[in-house]
Amino acid sequence: MNPGRGNNPDRDATWQSLAEHHRATASLEMRDLFARDPARARRLSITVGDLLGDLSKHRINEETISLLLRLATASGLPAAVRDLFAGRRINRSEDRPALHTALRAPRSSALLLDGRDVIADVHTELDRFLGFADEVNSGRITGAWGMPFDTVVNIGIGGSDLGPRLVADAMEEVSTSRIRVEFVANVDEHDLSRVLRRCDPRSTLFLQVSKSFRTVETAVNAASARAWLVEKSCPDPARHFAAVTANVPAALDQGIPAERVFGFRDWVGGRYSVWSAAGLAAAIRIGAPAFRRLLAGAHAMDLHFRDADLPANLPVMLGLLDVWYASFFGAETLAVVPYDHRLRLLPAYLSQLVMESNGKSVDASGNTLRNPTGQIVWGAEGTNAQHAFFQLLHQGTHIVPVDLLVYAKPGRDAAHHRQLVANCFAQSAALMAGRKDADPQRRCEGNRPSTTLLYRDLDPHTLGMLLALYEHRVFVEAHVWGINPFDQWGVELGKDLARSLVAGRDNDVPDPSTAMLLERCRSMGDGDSGD
Ligand code: F6P
Repeated sequence: MNPGRGNNPDRDATWQSLAEHHRATASLEMRDLFARDPARARRLSITVGDLLGDLSKHRINEETISLLLRLATASGLPAAVRDLFAGRRINRSEDRPALHTALRAPRSSALLLDGRDVIADVHTELDRFLGFADEVNSGRITGAWGMPFDTVVNIGIGGSDLGPRLVADAMEEVSTSRIRVEFVANVDEHDLSRVLRRCDPRSTLFLQVSKSFRTVETAVNAASARAWLVEKSCPDPARHFAAVTANVPAALDQGIPAERVFGFRDWVGGRYSVWSAAGLAAAIRIGAPAFRRLLAGAHAMDLHFRDADLPANLPVMLGLLDVWYASFFGAETLAVVPYDHRLRLLPAYLSQLVMESNGKSVDASGNTLRNPTGQIVWGAEGTNAQHAFFQLLHQGTHIVPVDLLVYAKPGRDAAHHRQLVANCFAQSAALMAGRKDADPQRRCEGNRPSTTLLYRDLDPHTLGMLLALYEHRVFVEAHVWGINPFDQWGVELGKDLARSLVAGRDNDVPDPSTAMLLERCRSMGDGDSGD
């Protein structure tokens, strides 16, 4: 059983060895591994700056690690990492590089792409959009009534929403801005109308954020926001809009003034775009200096990923563990549980990052993958999650690896923090060790894997490190599975069908169930209860 990625005997043999090793170690108990080797926790943890990853509560021994590392090497991971950073066209189905790492590279670095210095271009645009953020914050930029803005509404969806929403929310405590930032993503009118109810048209700035500038939800919401301004007798609605896009001509065509259109290049994937001008709403909220610290944190993780030896490389080891559980244990999901209220939006952000990247069933050359890939990422903040889904994690029949994230430095109230940390560590200990009990209802078998990510505190630098850590982890998984993580063709089918249903072309109704639903929706909407 190999994952089906071409002629690579060394890799296939390693895959086979891992399958055999998995069978041979099925009864391996983590509590026994700890009993035999008390140094295991220290040996199996990796520190990057202020971030510690504890990998010891996993169903692995020395041989597992050496086989996984052999798999990485046999798959050509080191060369793939070099290609990523060098801007090679690794997104083959779209024939372009994936250069989100260039968005956070320092000004002093250089990277030539088709004869142009990418880093110089990145910094020109970074200075532009952070300058705009400063001007919005200072009140120097005003709307059509001559009033400074006090509210910014980010209109975007997917990568044009989840990243800036997460960063703005997570960094609420470091924000010094007087500007309130709101997010509208859903085409459901209730999303926009709830936000507009809180806005004063005279002091509201809309950011239309869309890489393609063709996403229907965003276009519809932006048009309704514009109509709202007109309805409120706005003398010049264009002065209440700015745009972020890789399709600058489309934004200009829509009448958005050129000095308020901020670009990024098509080699930035939507779900990797928070580091670009797509992060503008967050930059306004947290301020330009904090946004630069976010980028510096991501860059620190980039350097670690690029330069650290594989066994000491946190994204590499986490990515290999994901492969270990998904491909050999058949674990289909990964639960992400931040014991940090500020990271409550992280599971939603990671759902897109991981699932839109690696939710594929063919490899980068189009061959069908014969092995499970991808991970279903879900989760919620701890401690809330303990009172919701942790029962299944402790006693359910599924194997669910869990990421637990927690900060070390108490905030203003040490009592809260003591409770929080104790709960986080108690969960990972309980998942690992379980509890013996003669009563099967009360017994917890344990041996359930988790990673704990412990960081000093959630400042912008650490947040940048964490997000980049997950980006690179996804890259490692994708590479080992042979997937191109930078395209998302599957999303297009639903978009095409929605377009034809909106157009109301009866011939395009795809099946009898959909026809029935359309018909019933029409009659129910008209007040017919169907009795
Ligand atoms: O859902 C597909 C997708 O293309 C995502 O990859 C992207 O983040 C989102 O739509 C929004 O796209 P855009 O930024 O082009 O509006």
